[in-house]
Amino acid sequence: MESIFFPSDFLFGTATAALQIEGGDTNNNWYRWAQQGHIKDNTSPLRANDHWKRFKEDIELLAELGVQTHRMGLEWSRIEPEPGRFSQEGIDHYAEEISLLKKHNIRPLVTLYHFSHPLWFEDKGGWENEESISDFLRYVRFIVEKLKPLVSDWVTINEPNVLLSYGYVLGTWPPGKQDSQAMIQTAKNLVLAHLKGYMAIHELYQGEKETPLVGVAHHLRIFSPLHLLSPLDHFAAALNDFVFQGIFLEGMGRGRFLPPLGSGYPLGRGRFQDFLGINYYSRDKIQFTWNPQELFAKRLVAKNAPTNNLGWEIYPKGISLLARRLWKTYRLPIFITENGTCDREDVFRPQFIYDHLKEVASLIASGIPIQRYYHWTFIDNFEWIEGESAPFGLFANDYQTQKRTWRKSAEFYQEICKKKAITEKMIQKYLNTEAYKPLS
Ligand code: GAL
Repeated sequence: MESIFFPSDFLFGTATAALQIEGGDTNNNWYRWAQQGHIKDNTSPLRANDHWKRFKEDIELLAELGVQTHRMGLEWSRIEPEPGRFSQEGIDHYAEEISLLKKHNIRPLVTLYHFSHPLWFEDKGGWENEESISDFLRYVRFIVEKLKPLVSDWVTINEPNVLLSYGYVLGTWPPGKQDSQAMIQTAKNLVLAHLKGYMAIHELYQGEKETPLVGVAHHLRIFSPLHLLSPLDHFAAALNDFVFQGIFLEGMGRGRFLPPLGSGYPLGRGRFQDFLGINYYSRDKIQFTWNPQELFAKRLVAKNAPTNNLGWEIYPKGISLLARRLWKTYRLPIFITENGTCDREDVFRPQFIYDHLKEVASLIASGIPIQRYYHWTFIDNFEWIEGESAPFGLFANDYQTQKRTWRKSAEFYQEICKKKAITEKMIQKYLNTEAYKPLS
């Protein structure tokens, strides 16, 4: 293993989402989903990390970790608890949290929507209802107007494709549907919400000193054919790639609707993002089948591949394959808005970080403008339907006492942030090439 170095203006950060860490809110769709018994370990986001109350302590920890930037989410239901009624307490809280980050020289990247929304929005039909777009815009305009003195980097929507797959195809996330018509309608609304949100944010900064940076955090995966010699498997992998990510990259990036969303440019041609956000975790192997449902739902893991605790393949090269392709197509700066892994014992996470950062460093060396890396995640948290049982954190969390503990990975990341490098010494101290376990 060789040392790796990053440019001095490269930013290292951590990423979180409001619902996964804050706790204490009952006015959102995920609290209800948990109440209805859908979480595997029967936990609820009501507890999470109690970050809403402990944000000062957590920001101290982030400062000690030495991150230069932090991606955090806002909980819409705390800001707009009833349609059109905004909560001063909610806004003040986020303003205080962001100010504290800035006091520690941590640049905020703020996500406006990360899978959770107010119950009133859910009860109107959520993103499937066309009114969702104007509801979202009202919230966006309001909060951006308030926070723009503190924030200039925004993610409008996190992973629309993941929301649609789990919420409208598999039905395991709220609203629990398995309905392709509803899925298409919802996808259109999410794309339009981003496009209009992007324009609204830029409009709100007109005349301001800062120009905002606005983008989407896209969940991107590698889909590869199970049998390399099978043209049908190649076709199935390409189809998965197109449906799961291609239509969102084009839709949200260029305002271009592709089938099954439609065709053409509903809001005109343009560029609707200032950076490309990539959330990268894994690769799927795809096998062709005539069963249309299986064609998109059956994702396999390569034979003998290393996997994490959730059975996801660890495939560092994927980050390069995606970044190269995106750079070629969109010619925009890239932020790795999420990358991390579920490793209960923290045995392979340092190696995972090294292997992915090595890809990032070599992309930069070849001229691809990757500017930031946000590790998912700062602290073990409420991992959607996995509940509290899937630890992705640099820090461990004891949910009973809410005590945060440094993992070896956190110490490793601290050194990375400080040195903007992984040196020979760090390799000896933290890494272990034997750490990965193949799927048994
Ligand atoms: C992403 C998601 C995060 C987090 C992560 C780990 O898809 O944006 O909220 O849960 O996966 O599974």
